[in-house]
Amino acid sequence: MSDRRPVGVFDSGVGGLSVLAALEKELPGERFIYYGDTAYAPYGTKTDTEVLGRAEAVTELLLAQGAKAVVIACNTATAAAAHVLRAERPELPIVAMEPALKPAAQSRHGGSILVLATPMTLRLNKFQRLMADWGEGAVPVPCPGLMELVERMDWEAAGVYVTETLERFRERKIDAVVLGCTHYVFLRPLLRELTEGKDILIVDGNAGTARQLRRVLESKNALSGAEKGGTVLQTSGEEAGALPVMERLLAFAREKL
Ligand code: DGL
Repeated sequence: MSDRRPVGVFDSGVGGLSVLAALEKELPGERFIYYGDTAYAPYGTKTDTEVLGRAEAVTELLLAQGAKAVVIACNTATAAAAHVLRAERPELPIVAMEPALKPAAQSRHGGSILVLATPMTLRLNKFQRLMADWGEGAVPVPCPGLMELVERMDWEAAGVYVTETLERFRERKIDAVVLGCTHYVFLRPLLRELTEGKDILIVDGNAGTARQLRRVLESKNALSGAEKGGTVLQTSGEEAGALPVMERLLAFAREKL
């Protein structure tokens, strides 16, 4: 069977484009509608009720365009809303994200694991449960303000932010850095440079999320079956300003991440 309906993907802004690139790579035959909720960004410093409201509204928009599944390409929206969206729409396949602490913990060798994420992701229950299972040696590091620098593609300021963050932990032996916000995945090349020669693993959940989408679509018999899919970008922000930035970052993610 082939299901040519699109997969809806959303985030508060450009971060989920790093996930989208992984989805396209894993499932090149699928059609994707990516929605950046730019007008309401950032999510990570709002209340969970506000983010839940946005997640519901954006899911609605994606379903109105015929989405057969929704990928929450955002750790913050997952923590605030995935359980509610699933309860509200038990028939809709929803693939969600969490900081990739588990794979980081599995490769830990006695040192610390820094988990960089938004204040909300680190505060809510979902992450507390993850910490209870896999948190040995893990240090939650909230990074308010960092997603905004990625939104503006201000790599210089992001470099300063990340350097100062790592500097706070220079006394420790760091085994891994978890990029627990999809925006931070764009900083992977920068982090690689900053940690060069130090045997520090940099982990994100993007490839795992893409494999999970494949499994879910397969189990529902909902793969497109087409050879070539396609991607449409949408935003709640001002299109003339936001879309060119989204296109550039998607191209960057496809090539470099
Ligand atoms: N990209 C998001 C995440 O993965 C959220 C960033 C934000 O809106 O604060 O958590």
